[in-house]
Amino acid sequence: MTAWPRLAFGGDYNPEQWPAEVHDEDVALMRESGVNLVTLAVFSWALLEPSEGHYEFGWLDEVVTKLHSGGISIDMATATASPPPWLARRYPETLPVTEDGRTMWPGGRQAFCPSSPVYRERSLGLCRRMGERYGGHDAVVLWHVGNELGNHNAWCYCDVSAAAFRRWLERRYGDVDRLNDAWGTNFWSQRYATFDEVLPPRLAPNFANPTQQLDFRRFSSDELLDNFVAERDVLRELSPAVPVTTNFMVMGHVREMDYWRWASEVDVVSNDHYLNAHDPEGYVELAFSADWTRGLAGGQPWMLMEHSTSAVNWQHRNIAKRPGEMLRNSLQHVARGADAVLFFQWRASRAGAEKYHSGMVPHAGTDTRLWREVVELGDVLQRIREVAGAGARNDVAMVVDWQAWWGAELDSHPTQDLVYLDQAHTLYRALWERGVGVDFVRPDGDLTGYRVVLVPTLYTVTDAAAESVRRAAEEGATVLVTYFSGIVDEHDHVRLGGYPGAFRELLGVFVEEFAPLRTEEKVRLDDGTTADLWTEHLHLRGAEAVASYLDGPLPGTPAVTRHGYGRGAAWYAACRLDDDGVSALVDRLLAESGVVPVVPTRGGVEVARRTAADGRSWLFVVNHTAEPASVAVDGHDLVTDRPTDGALEVPAGGVAVVREG
Ligand code: GLA
Repeated sequence: MTAWPRLAFGGDYNPEQWPAEVHDEDVALMRESGVNLVTLAVFSWALLEPSEGHYEFGWLDEVVTKLHSGGISIDMATATASPPPWLARRYPETLPVTEDGRTMWPGGRQAFCPSSPVYRERSLGLCRRMGERYGGHDAVVLWHVGNELGNHNAWCYCDVSAAAFRRWLERRYGDVDRLNDAWGTNFWSQRYATFDEVLPPRLAPNFANPTQQLDFRRFSSDELLDNFVAERDVLRELSPAVPVTTNFMVMGHVREMDYWRWASEVDVVSNDHYLNAHDPEGYVELAFSADWTRGLAGGQPWMLMEHSTSAVNWQHRNIAKRPGEMLRNSLQHVARGADAVLFFQWRASRAGAEKYHSGMVPHAGTDTRLWREVVELGDVLQRIREVAGAGARNDVAMVVDWQAWWGAELDSHPTQDLVYLDQAHTLYRALWERGVGVDFVRPDGDLTGYRVVLVPTLYTVTDAAAESVRRAAEEGATVLVTYFSGIVDEHDHVRLGGYPGAFRELLGVFVEEFAPLRTEEKVRLDDGTTADLWTEHLHLRGAEAVASYLDGPLPGTPAVTRHGYGRGAAWYAACRLDDDGVSALVDRLLAESGVVPVVPTRGGVEVARRTAADGRSWLFVVNHTAEPASVAVDGHDLVTDRPTDGALEVPAGGVAVVREG
């Protein structure tokens, strides 16, 4: 397959927003800053096919030629992300409809129904022409299908979607009685006589059927994946040597697509990440996202397809990045497996809804701190490029799942305040602060060899996934399960006989009732920590109590338990522990399993290691603090091009990448 440049550096390039003379300056500036890859034509459909079946590629040909002669490689989009106005005018049935029946009109972007056969036909028509025209061009090293599939239009409730949902359900269940059993439709007089009666979970007078909601999410993710696969297959036919990707959104609380299902369909995993600028320590969530993306890539390198040089335009207040922050963020991604550092977008727009979104070339031009930092980043990426291709493997696995996420946050639950990622983030933060690396694993994934396995809030769990976690403990891992895990099967039916059904035997506990706390209520534990939000009426069935409640609804009841199991152990946190409680728990898990940090550091100094197949390794240090940091490491710092002589000094806010040994 064609190779894309590594480490890749660049971003989304939207030349159609600028006159031709700017394009010459663009290529010159790209060369000056070391840009070697740009994503082209993401939102160009209206210009490439200004009326149905009438194509105009001339302007794009010119840009491709300019980039190619400048030595810049192209990640060519299929341009199908956002249909042009004529599509909706001519085929209004392609427009997406919300849960409460409102049409989403053109004028923004991505106004199409993912199940629309018209959208499918017209987008594949354009994709085919793009493949024919550019598939053999030397500059085109990657295909980029659509853009952030599922952003803005993941769920469509229109009649076209309803019919597609019914077809999907027929394939899943075969006959309507199996659907009735899976959805539990004897409840509230919901029993269906035929598939024709079934609808998407449109706005209803009371809670929708939870399994209908879950299946609708599964269907919606599959519909968009189908669109991706259809375009990918056209490209594979026309341009077999060029890998195909689409940019995922593993970030923040974006949860629409089940990327475990998507990951095996792309030739290279790529991800977009934007910091939550309101969180002064948003870089921890960045690391979480990057590690999860590496999990999707099977521990191998992946591409950071988009992040921002500075502020975005879509948060409540859009905070500019501080000096050095862009470099630190970029290196965090590389430390965690990215072989590409790309931005949205190359040149900040002059018009349109994203004109206040930062770019690599700001409105103020090149005599700016931001541009100088872009040039510096290009230079650093050049200096560290030998890390390309290296993967990462850690001793701690975290089991995460979109289906459990969807299930855990359904309405009609014991509390509306339970957030699926809450415990995942808290545990991750504790490990991040200790410099301990984490790999993200799918629920039925391979846990062999992990010394610690974390299972936060895995609400929905299949028998296969429960067995995989059990086996990990049996074979010697220290497993931690947190509250509201293992409660239901894949149909959202409660596993009976005491919670948490799927993990009861493994954990050696029996829970007779959930006991969520009142808003603001806290309970004290006998180890000096506290818990809020969630407790459980738990009995020991083989496990020992590690900590118990002193007060609250269940004084004397175990809150944290440990059960020796096989060659390992299974711990349970039945409540939402405060940060001290999580920290203490993590220390015990690490001590018991013998897991140590990548290298010891102090708070706010991030460390991560990449290791090549031939055993060479690189230690990344990102100093998020205002004080210099010193790290014990032998090797050569590629950023400063100096030997470390056993002790590396990383300046306040600085970065280092040490070839170890
Ligand atoms: C997303 C999109 C881009 C752009 C950025 C702005 O990631 O893919 O086109 O809108 O957001 O942050």
